[in-house]
Amino acid sequence: MHEVDFRITSTGNRVATGPLTSDSSQRALIPARAYTTAAAHEVERERIFAAGWVWAGYAHWVAETGQVKPITVAGRPLLMIRGEDDELRVFHNSCRHRGMALTEEPVRVKRRLQCAYHCWSYDLDGSLAVTPYFQRERQGRGGPADPRALGLLPVASRVWAGMVFVDLGERDMDAATASFDRFVAPLAQRWSHIDFDRIRLADERVFDIAANWKLVVENFLDFYHLPFIHPQVGPVNSSLDVDDEALAPEIIGGCYPRGATGKAAKTSDALPFLGAVPPEKTESQDIFCVFPNALLFLEADWFQVIGFDAVSADRTVEHMAIFVDQDGTSEDHSVNRKRLAEVLFGVNEQDLPILEKLQAGRHSPASDRTSLVPHWDQVTAMFQQLVADRVGGPNAGDSRA
Ligand SMILES: [Fe+2]
Repeated sequence: MHEVDFRITSTGNRVATGPLTSDSSQRALIPARAYTTAAAHEVERERIFAAGWVWAGYAHWVAETGQVKPITVAGRPLLMIRGEDDELRVFHNSCRHRGMALTEEPVRVKRRLQCAYHCWSYDLDGSLAVTPYFQRERQGRGGPADPRALGLLPVASRVWAGMVFVDLGERDMDAATASFDRFVAPLAQRWSHIDFDRIRLADERVFDIAANWKLVVENFLDFYHLPFIHPQVGPVNSSLDVDDEALAPEIIGGCYPRGATGKAAKTSDALPFLGAVPPEKTESQDIFCVFPNALLFLEADWFQVIGFDAVSADRTVEHMAIFVDQDGTSEDHSVNRKRLAEVLFGVNEQDLPILEKLQAGRHSPASDRTSLVPHWDQVTAMFQQLVADRVGGPNAGDSRA
């Protein structure tokens, strides 16, 4: 288990003792140009998003056999496909003949996915099925000597808690299963009281934000802004009492003592809890970033995910989804579900102008003199340290290109 030291404050909450060692504020660990330049973004794309487990989408996007959903991870076009065996698989979205993207829209196919160029088609498990006139013969039935060599190229993928993760750097599909299990183990263990097979989508929405992905994560990890930007979620004391949490270098966040919907949960038509929630967890909210791009909130009766695609240095597309227990999807709970979605989407909307102004500020020459505050920003500093380590130090991603 990853070891992080914590300091207990005078009010009894835990503050991580992270990269910020002195009592006074320190410079940010990432240069401002890493938030604005295409060159820095390219380095992060290759060393972070194309090398290791990342959030790629939701399992419900391909709920039924034959559903195909194009997605983009680290700039690579991919396809999520639900097979006849109910397995969700991910492939490179590229026909093995001339490399055409098989589809750029979600589609539902009966048995096979066909490339529109020369009509090569693939079974839902990616195997090459039909290659018309392959040997230039009149009957049209010939095929390659070894069709298995020309199946869609698979990408290591795993479904967990309603989300789909991929690792573009992993070629060994068997090793991928074990490496993913290790990756999420600290969180899976913390949330072992929840049966994620029971969660169902309550609502989802896309937010297209003119800001760098790192600002999205840093703002998510920032408990300091809550009383100023989201006063409705709780009093200042709740933010003061947040416990920093670092379950692993890649799983960092905090535990907020009282959630935005804590009061709604006490009404008679309240949404059912997600599993056997321990008493001490019924009045708190777990807030974790699964590095780099899954931002998770868990309360007793709902689970919220913001997964995002870091499209470019100044654009991030968030896919926000709210899940409830399957017993909470009935008509009896529709008012509460709707209210929950309004509250949670509303909180995220409040962050949008903040993120866009943070991005604007990164173009200022003064933005390399911003500071991180030890009492609030240790977890943000951990995130920045992780980014810096992955891209190869503070000067990686320099715009020398
Ligand atoms: Fe916020």
